[in-house]
Amino acid sequence: MQKKTVRAGIVGAGFSAGFHYEAIRKVHGVNVEVAGVYALDREQAAQYAAKRGIRNYDSLDALIADVGVVHCCVLVAGHEEVAVAALERDKCVIVEKPLTGYCGDGTDAFHGDTFPKQDALTHGLASVERMLETERRSKGCILYAENWVYAPAIQRERDIIEKTGAQILWIHGEEAHSGSHNPTYAYWKYSGGGVMIGKGCHPLSAALYLKRVEGRARDGRPIRPRTVTGRTAALTRMPGFRDEGHIRSNYYDIDDFSMMHVTFEDGTLATVFASDIILGGIHNWIEVAANNHRVVCNINPNTAMQVYNPRNENFADVYTVEKIEQKQGWTNMPPDEDWFTGYPQEIEAFYRTVAYGDPVESDSRLAADTISTIYSAYLSAERGGAAVEVRTF
Ligand SMILES: NC(=O)c1ccc[n+]([C@@H]2O[C@H](COP(=O)([O-])OP(=O)(O)OC[C@H]3O[C@@H](n4cnc5c(N)ncnc54)[C@H](O)[C@@H]3O)[C@@H](O)[C@H]2O)c1
Repeated sequence: MQKKTVRAGIVGAGFSAGFHYEAIRKVHGVNVEVAGVYALDREQAAQYAAKRGIRNYDSLDALIADVGVVHCCVLVAGHEEVAVAALERDKCVIVEKPLTGYCGDGTDAFHGDTFPKQDALTHGLASVERMLETERRSKGCILYAENWVYAPAIQRERDIIEKTGAQILWIHGEEAHSGSHNPTYAYWKYSGGGVMIGKGCHPLSAALYLKRVEGRARDGRPIRPRTVTGRTAALTRMPGFRDEGHIRSNYYDIDDFSMMHVTFEDGTLATVFASDIILGGIHNWIEVAANNHRVVCNINPNTAMQVYNPRNENFADVYTVEKIEQKQGWTNMPPDEDWFTGYPQEIEAFYRTVAYGDPVESDSRLAADTISTIYSAYLSAERGGAAVEVRTF
């Protein structure tokens, strides 16, 4: 079959825009031409474009007009605007996680600790609805960039579930490290919340996805979340926190610890932890306890490659693993971190959907259920952990 060619445009020029570009370069089933970039930070966009030899567009509209696929790599506060603009022009849009969010009322008085969390649920879901409604009217589509869905370990577990007809009884998982490098990730108004949405969305989406896979394999109907219980804390903002400088501690109004406990409509469970207080590098894993097998997916770290280095300085120029505090001694150093994380597989799959119509594993409904579960969990946390019904899409 002749390879199709698709033109791509990148919106945002920061961290995620960097790994999107790397993943695009690895796409092999489709010829992807990167037309250029657009970002609010004009200087950052200029540097991004110059480094890669691509055009620096001076407006979002101009970029969208020129491409078939838009990569939405901007802060959560801008996801709806970028995605809707692309869909209205019948373009497909790859939206970074989380799909969207409630970023406050725009006033100086807004504070993440104190505003009623029902507002986050009501307005967050209104944003989701606007995006889904625009997608319904569009010839384009939303491709939800949840890399955990495409992580090889999760896709292998999908295969096991489909081939054995497994019933998942409990999923537990976690995404954690010692704190985001991004200065804006400290304020609810940019990220739509703290660690529960910022990191918790990853293992949560993976859990929701695997229960969908189970239901789809059994009778064609995905198994959806029914209720959620949530807990949040701001441990590094506790007056008694004894800061020794290893854990980021300058958050303004967001949670740095969270737990979501989901009950699905078939009565089975998922428990998801997310935190910014874990030393020793990134800690991304999910475990599935099924009626006929048990699986531990170690996304990062994993033991595919173990490296011993007697002196930190030896490795001054060697990248080891995300968020590790030092490089001396033994390190679990993935030979290809992006591959284990699912970035290239995700982008390959999305371009196959756009070019050849392949079905989407991580779609807007999975994204919507994730947002709904998370903001319901924030509401539950405000209510001291009382279960809250999850609306599904
Ligand atoms: N999947 C992952 O592993 C992963 C990792 C990091 C970040 N992310 C997600 O990527 C998104 C961006 O995070 P980041 O770390 O790249 O942020 P960043 O701060 O590094 O970069 C944000 C970029 O977006 C631009 N921008 C912001 N609002 C905009 C708007 N409305 N229109 C146009 N440009 C705008 C900024 O100028 C900047 O260039 C977030 O949704 C985040 O959750 C995902």
